[in-house]
Amino acid sequence: MCGIVGIIGKEHAEEVILKGLERLEYRGYDSAGLFVANAETAHLVKAQGRIRNLEEKITPSTTGTMGIGHTRWATHGKPSEANAHPHTSASQRLVLVHNGVIENFEALHQEYLSEDHFIGQTDTEIVVHLVEKMMASGTTVKEAFKKTLGLIRGSYAFALVDRKDPETIYVAKNKSPLLIGLGDGFNVLCSDALAMLDQTDRFVELEDGEMVTVRADHITIEDIAGNEITRAPYQATFDASDIEKGTYPYYMLKEIDEQPAVMRRIVEHYTTDGQIVMDSQLIKELAGSDRIYIVACGTSSHAGWAAKKFIETLAEIPVEVHLSSEFGYDMPLLSKKPFFIYLTQSGETADSRQVLVKTNQLGFPSLTITNVAGSTLSREADYTLLLHAGPEIAVASTKAYTAQIAVLALLAKKVGEYQANPIALELDIAHELGLIASGMETVINEKALIQELAADYLTDTRNAFYIGRSNDYYVSLEAALKLKEISYIQAEGFAAGELKHGTIALIEEDTPVIGIITEEITGSHTRGNLKEVESRGAKTLTIVSEELAKETDQIILPTVHPLLTSLISVIPTQLIAYYATLQRGFDVDKPRNLAKSVTVE
Ligand code: M6R
Repeated sequence: MCGIVGIIGKEHAEEVILKGLERLEYRGYDSAGLFVANAETAHLVKAQGRIRNLEEKITPSTTGTMGIGHTRWATHGKPSEANAHPHTSASQRLVLVHNGVIENFEALHQEYLSEDHFIGQTDTEIVVHLVEKMMASGTTVKEAFKKTLGLIRGSYAFALVDRKDPETIYVAKNKSPLLIGLGDGFNVLCSDALAMLDQTDRFVELEDGEMVTVRADHITIEDIAGNEITRAPYQATFDASDIEKGTYPYYMLKEIDEQPAVMRRIVEHYTTDGQIVMDSQLIKELAGSDRIYIVACGTSSHAGWAAKKFIETLAEIPVEVHLSSEFGYDMPLLSKKPFFIYLTQSGETADSRQVLVKTNQLGFPSLTITNVAGSTLSREADYTLLLHAGPEIAVASTKAYTAQIAVLALLAKKVGEYQANPIALELDIAHELGLIASGMETVINEKALIQELAADYLTDTRNAFYIGRSNDYYVSLEAALKLKEISYIQAEGFAAGELKHGTIALIEEDTPVIGIITEEITGSHTRGNLKEVESRGAKTLTIVSEELAKETDQIILPTVHPLLTSLISVIPTQLIAYYATLQRGFDVDKPRNLAKSVTVE
């Protein structure tokens, strides 16, 4: 949520900042702003709405050799120019951008700043006023910033500039992501390395509680006590071309199309000569656990549900799937030897992180499965498995969902082999994932048909239902989330058998009900449920595995291993959501009210 960039030591800092903000727009797009300066001039520009609105306000004179920028996802105060960052201190001397939430901002306001006048309603404006207040007794900006950090409670990534010293950017981080990028004669800062990949591929991670003084030729990292810290940079593994849309109209379509390649990449990455290669200590610890707790949010939690059955079958360990936002505050009675798996595309989701902090305190082993190396949840868990899906930019998650399931399948097989479970020993998961990659291609090639069906069923509807049983039910949950988050159709995923216990009352003439059928036993029951809704006026559509298909079914899926059907059946639902959204005229990649990386609880 919210994206921060900054640069110091380069001509036309505004161009670098705008480009960086565009790349961070997935983190929030309510409003944006930048501050640029050099020895003689300084400019602060803000705009409500998308980055392009900010760009329109930039004139040739809005230039500098240093600057900071921000794209906002509103928490405190509505999206408006007044609430857009950067915020300034009472005298305008200090300029601040912030990602995170200051929990005690009202108390700080009352105690220190009751006389001050504020332009907007944000917690950030309180902080920058407070820094200036701390300077009243002749304290330096750096010391005042430190003092302020000592007073605030909450999450933050801050970048602070003093107009009187445009040679320095002060940076601090707690719980919200922030990286420093090292350049040749210049340095940058960013919430995500993606934003600055065209400037550098060398990044320094920051720990919570650290403060950094960034200059063009030097950075100094200090901990809370003021001790200097030396930390080697890491090299970013993807390059700027990975984050270009190319010829695609939207990232979401590009990312849907990338899924077969991601499946193959995962197999290549985790196997050598047909054998799965994963940290042996991780496998031993998992095999020794008596219950696996998968903790995740949104689409990632749906990937957890999709994996539950095959993990239990292959690894023979019971699996519970929990929503992070509930689990942290309503922890169930745990088993004696639990093992925690955190599924998170971004590795930065605050709801999941708060659970990890708690399970770490309790001393339980943990694994993070994420797309982002070096992300917070990766650093704080005992083990990490990477998704190797390439950057996922569209807010609606697609390739991360299938990548999570694929990585979990390889992991489950490896644990099962360790347990000498005959089912795991017999199943060649790498081969199955190869077949799935080809099957995905077959479905993706049916775009024209799916576009037609989406237009026919979903253009004018107010609501829609996906139904299925067992794995098909779990995919229904994901299919419905995808549809509602980008097309704004009130969509629900339902266990097919549960409809008649209440929800069937919502079926009206032409209500779209989409049935997913990939299992013989449950399939005939789901077909029965589709008949029930049809007799009440519903307009039904079926997504069915080839071997179970009838002439009247509309979307036919290639047959894949019964434990892995989610990897195929989800593909048409992603495309349905995409085309329904296009048809209804909304921005596929940047749905309203949302942000890609949810770094507030
Ligand atoms: O980065 P994470 O996987 O932890 O994110 C979790 C959810 O916020 C995310 O999956 C969200 O539900 C997606 N936008 C759905 O498409």
